[in-house]
Amino acid sequence: MIIDPEYRIADIDKRIYGSFLEHLGRAVYGGIYEPDHPQADEGGFRTDVLGLVRELRVPIVRYPGGNFVSGYRWEDGVGPPERRPRRLELAWKSVEPNRVGTNEFARWARQAGADVLMAVNLGTRGVDAARNLVEYCNHPSGTYWSDLRAEHGYREPHGFRTWCLGNEMDGPWQIGQKTAAEYGRLANEAGKAMRGVDPAIELIACGSSYRAMPTYADWEATVLDLAYDQVDYLSLHTYYGNSDGDTPNYLARTLDMEAFIREVAAVCDYVKAKKRSKKTIGLAFDEWNVWYHSIEPDKRQTPWQEAPPLLEEAYTFEDALLVGCMLITLIRNADRVRIACLAQLVNAIAPIMTETGGGAWRQTIFYPYLHASLYGRGTSLRPIIHSPRYDSKDFADVPFVEAAAVHDEEEETLTLFVANKDADSSMPLECDIRGFGDYAVVCHLVLESEDPKASNTAARPDAVVPHSGGDAANDDGTLRATLGKLSWNVIRLR
Ligand code: AHR
Repeated sequence: MIIDPEYRIADIDKRIYGSFLEHLGRAVYGGIYEPDHPQADEGGFRTDVLGLVRELRVPIVRYPGGNFVSGYRWEDGVGPPERRPRRLELAWKSVEPNRVGTNEFARWARQAGADVLMAVNLGTRGVDAARNLVEYCNHPSGTYWSDLRAEHGYREPHGFRTWCLGNEMDGPWQIGQKTAAEYGRLANEAGKAMRGVDPAIELIACGSSYRAMPTYADWEATVLDLAYDQVDYLSLHTYYGNSDGDTPNYLARTLDMEAFIREVAAVCDYVKAKKRSKKTIGLAFDEWNVWYHSIEPDKRQTPWQEAPPLLEEAYTFEDALLVGCMLITLIRNADRVRIACLAQLVNAIAPIMTETGGGAWRQTIFYPYLHASLYGRGTSLRPIIHSPRYDSKDFADVPFVEAAAVHDEEEETLTLFVANKDADSSMPLECDIRGFGDYAVVCHLVLESEDPKASNTAARPDAVVPHSGGDAANDDGTLRATLGKLSWNVIRLR
């Protein structure tokens, strides 16, 4: 490998380490919010969970959905809690008690040190509800909606800067699904009115729900054709799984993620060219993760429960390795991907799990996310990698070694995130870092496991945890390290 300070990709937008909390399963109720829990604060939020979120230094959290937002009346979630309605929530077939809404979440996010990435409902609602929500959240005072916010106890505006124009509007599962033309027009008009209220906001339009959607690419082109001037970002979503137990093929899925990013960027630039526009649309990968363990059990849940245990994935070590590789992909595409959200944060497809009335623990995927969020800030450098390769069921020429490099010029640190996907043997890493003079290795963290299917549970929360026993060393401008078989490595130099 060769890493040089001059091989710059881009300054990383810290928002690529964002996450997501939806009114779904036990993410909000029974996750971040559990008023009867011994560690709940006066607002009902669990302080132990908040502590774990803070540990991750999550810069931004998308809220309140997801599929949920497409049927949500935001007005139900503000004002005196005892007057808030209980509603049938159609996206997840649950009952929504509305005890947590925009204001409570804004306060929680502030305590977590995170900004809010707010989503408006463009499924069952439209321009009016969207612009009213912006006024309620961001306008200082002296108007109906801003004064109502003050009446509700929040005098200061929340100042949410980035907004999603709906969610996965191409999906047949979405409440109020639209064609690309219907959605493009609506996104444009909603965006125009929202910006009319607050010209400082940034807007994310929905791209395809995933790369295999039948309307993929046409959807992106049509939506942007109709809404290019109003939007700043286009969204991408992807979830991977290993339901057929083919680990080499599973770990190769970052090639799909990479191609997805390149293709969507190409469609954005095609529309830019057509419009002779000076503006470049950024990418918001605002849902990404592993999701497959819970799909079958979730089908057996009875409908209309409040906070049912949905999407509760017990992540394995190999899932953490893929999540690490997905983070590497995001860092290497930092010139185009400016926002990304690990979906999600607590209990539902999440790095943090809780027991109702009990403890909270870190899933395996917590660790690569933690490492990237803490050490992946600065300039993304392009590593030149010569790695042995393999073929799998769906992919050819898959490099065993994937890596990203981040240079923090202020702190004078260089961090390498390196994954070895080879299940059979360790790999010697030799990396030319002559451009980094006398930087010395300050730590080599490793996440590995004898059992790729090992998980952390309430009873064994530390089954898979990183150790600092890696052997990386700077040997006169050549970084040498052993990359254990199936391992996630974080090598930090200063
Ligand atoms: O994150 C879970 C769900 O996945 C979201 O609600 C939806 O947008 C996606 O399909």
